[in-house]
Amino acid sequence: MTKTIGVLVGSLREGSYNKLAAETFISLLPEGFEGKLIEIGDLPLYNEDLDVEGKVPEAWTRFRHELNAVDGVYFFTPEYNRSMPATIKNALDVGSRPYGQSAWDGKPALVVSVSVGAVSGFGANHHLRQSLVFLNVPTLQQPEAYIGNVTNLLEDGAFKQDTKDFFQMITDKYIEFFNRFA
Ligand code: FNR
Repeated sequence: MTKTIGVLVGSLREGSYNKLAAETFISLLPEGFEGKLIEIGDLPLYNEDLDVEGKVPEAWTRFRHELNAVDGVYFFTPEYNRSMPATIKNALDVGSRPYGQSAWDGKPALVVSVSVGAVSGFGANHHLRQSLVFLNVPTLQQPEAYIGNVTNLLEDGAFKQDTKDFFQMITDKYIEFFNRFA
């Protein structure tokens, strides 16, 4: 049966490099796997007062269902002020509740940070990893995926072949890692 990887993109920008990287990674998944972009930009900020019957925002319910249905997760994060953007943190919080029903638990993950800067989103990448430890999300440790100076890696609006080869190597390692949990 086809395994589905839920793909979360932390940038809401139309021309997002993270989105482009996410789409490229999806295209590199092997047979038997599919990638599914999961929208996180429409999630109201987490508020415990709303997490009761009759008040739960529709977007939270939709997101939790979509997350529960996937077998693994890819995160593509920009770095905002040396951390992950609020979109991703909010998605982590929404998916982690109601208490005891976290949709994240045990889903093998890959974290990719993409930045126009040379520091490559390291701060975002590791702040995100910190939350994933608590959420019991086994996360590929090596190879790490820091995509810095991203504009140098593009040609005609797409990633150059040597970068795609690097993405393919990371994908292969992730699939190997994923299969350990299957
Ligand atoms: C940034 N950017 C940024 N870059 C970085 O390397 N470290 C940082 O701490 C920050 N901080 C930051 C804060 C805010 C509020 C914005 C809007 C931007 C730049 C950011 O990485 C760059 O805009 C990327 O292109 C964002 O990724 P997308 O939107 O192209 O996917």
